[in-house]
Amino acid sequence: MELHLSLMFDRLPEIAAAFDRRERIVVFPGDCLEFLRGIPDETFQLVVTSPPYNLGKEYEKRIHLEHYVEQQREVIRECVRVTKATGSVCWEVGNYVDNGAIVPLDALLFPIFQDLKLRCRNRIVWHFEHGLHCTRRFSGRYESILWFTKSEDYFFDLDPVRVPQKYPGKKHFKGPRAGQYSCNPLGKNPGDVWIIPNVKSNHVEKTEHPCQFPVELIERLVLTLTREDDWVLDPFLGTGTSIIAALRHDRRGAGAETHSRYVEIARSRIHQALQGTLPVRPMNRPVFNPRDAGRALTTAPWLKQGELNGVLALGEKQTHYGAKK
Ligand SMILES: C[S@@+](CC[C@H](N)C(=O)[O-])C[C@H]1O[C@@H](n2cnc3c(N)ncnc32)[C@H](O)[C@@H]1O
Repeated sequence: MELHLSLMFDRLPEIAAAFDRRERIVVFPGDCLEFLRGIPDETFQLVVTSPPYNLGKEYEKRIHLEHYVEQQREVIRECVRVTKATGSVCWEVGNYVDNGAIVPLDALLFPIFQDLKLRCRNRIVWHFEHGLHCTRRFSGRYESILWFTKSEDYFFDLDPVRVPQKYPGKKHFKGPRAGQYSCNPLGKNPGDVWIIPNVKSNHVEKTEHPCQFPVELIERLVLTLTREDDWVLDPFLGTGTSIIAALRHDRRGAGAETHSRYVEIARSRIHQALQGTLPVRPMNRPVFNPRDAGRALTTAPWLKQGELNGVLALGEKQTHYGAKK
């Protein structure tokens, strides 16, 4: 469903540049630590972000890994301080790569959250199909989201993100509920492996930023971990995706971004989201399969008709299954 947020307001809400609880949208053009230090304790229901990975991308300077971890520690400490007692912190990261050797950043950063006494609820694997083709190791096709809560008393609502059951018609065959449907009619838990396309050149949400979140990835977290009108924070805002995901579900959104061009893009995308004109890939749309769609070039010319095209990757569908004999 495409939301038309403009219909909800008499006039479009302003995008403020400084934090105030009475605002709905805040984009701070500057360093996240400076922004965070001005925010009262326990303000945000959800902090969700993808920090720089120290890879030397156009928006970051590569620094010694120990120094990087210390910088992250400072930001994480502030993020935990501004998170509500019932709230969550979600840190989305991939690998740091040094001369072909990888360091999984979630493993490196996990102890920081543990030292701050946060509880890890899930390590969500975000699987996607597109990226660099490696020649001396397997190509990286996932990143992870570490989801932490500040206490045992945390908000979590599974219903808005349930997915269809595989066998909805299945019934209990014995016991007191024999004959009744065995599954939840609202759908099943989506699990902790999420197959969602990453934002590469053909994606409708692509901007000039090299590593945007897909909106649908953050929508899932917003829907399960916050209520309407709650505040969502992204300290490394980039193109504004986390705020957009929050606004699409009637939450408030705030973030900081140092790079002025990305601040401009974030503001423009937020305006488009409010007017209902931002192109967004809808949540739960199945991943495009060129073979099923009958696209050209999907059959290897060197295979005989009916022969399968090698090993299938996770999330790819085999077109035929042998009938049981
Ligand atoms: C991995 S990108 C995040 C992209 C974002 N998730 C999106 O959907 O567009 C990290 C962003 O953090 C910004 N950044 C780096 N250091 C920062 C800092 N100290 N404060 C605020 N933003 C920073 C970078 O310019 C970059 O846009």
